[in-house]
Amino acid sequence: MHQPVLLEQVIQYLGPRPNENFIDCTIGEAGHSQVILELNSPDGKILGIDVDAESLKRLQTNERLILVHGNFKDLKKIAEENRFSNISGILFDLGLSSWQIDESGKGFTFRKDEPLVMILNGKQEVTAEEIINQWPEESLVEILQKFGEERYGRRIVKGIVNERKLHPIKTTFQLKNIVLKSIPFSHTRRGAVSRVLARVFQALRIVVNDELENLTKGMEQALEIIDSGGRIVVISFHSLEDRIVKNFFKEKRNQGVLRVLTEKPIIADEIEISFNYRSRSAKLRAAIKI
Ligand SMILES: C[S@@+](CC[C@H](N)C(=O)[O-])C[C@H]1O[C@@H](n2cnc3c(N)ncnc32)[C@H](O)[C@@H]1O
Repeated sequence: MHQPVLLEQVIQYLGPRPNENFIDCTIGEAGHSQVILELNSPDGKILGIDVDAESLKRLQTNERLILVHGNFKDLKKIAEENRFSNISGILFDLGLSSWQIDESGKGFTFRKDEPLVMILNGKQEVTAEEIINQWPEESLVEILQKFGEERYGRRIVKGIVNERKLHPIKTTFQLKNIVLKSIPFSHTRRGAVSRVLARVFQALRIVVNDELENLTKGMEQALEIIDSGGRIVVISFHSLEDRIVKNFFKEKRNQGVLRVLTEKPIIADEIEISFNYRSRSAKLRAAIKI
């Protein structure tokens, strides 16, 4: 079961009131949206978008919750096609839901032995397996350094290239074992290894799903379609995403089109982290359209 991250703070910054409309760009398991729906009743609506059709099937639409299978990089078009206007707030809760990590079987986690797919919407052309087995060594190094900020990227890629000469790398555990063999022994303590693995898996996921570019496109369009006085709330889960959100807000503030509500990112407190481990890396930023 997915526990919505920073729920109280999302509600505080979005500030839903009766009859207002909202867009949840990453509806996932509708943890945040369920609460918004209580607060914007009786006639407020939510347009809930998710790129993962399998995940979306687990939700039920109703007259106040419109569900759309799509990518928030096409936010403006999706809102227009659904004649969704008078928008008071837009939420992006980035990354993956617990169901996707634990149950989807797509290889998002190094804690389970699964095929290296990592595709969220079933339409992208390239899987993590294809990247690992087919991309040139230098491109792999670039991915791990740029999107994983992994300092042992070059060593790990050497391990990948040596292994793929012998046999194809098809599963998360194969990749995990290569990483374990490639990093210095001093880093093989449990916590340190997990962090390296998380960075390697993060880098692949970002590339497979074009995550960073989508985020910029989504926020640009959110600002375009939201009403003046409307709020944009973004929860990110790693520094690359947070930097994009921070710089986007700064740039738009300098252009005089929005006011930033969170000078510093809002993070989860110890109590939330103790019952929802995913929240440990969450950073929330919010802004209001002028
Ligand atoms: C962290 S979960 C959202 C959880 C949700 N807020 C909740 O409380 O249940 C992120 C969701 O965003 C979806 N997603 C990721 N990138 C997307 C994109 N570019 N467009 C639309 N949905 C996306 C994922 O499929 C996933 O279901």
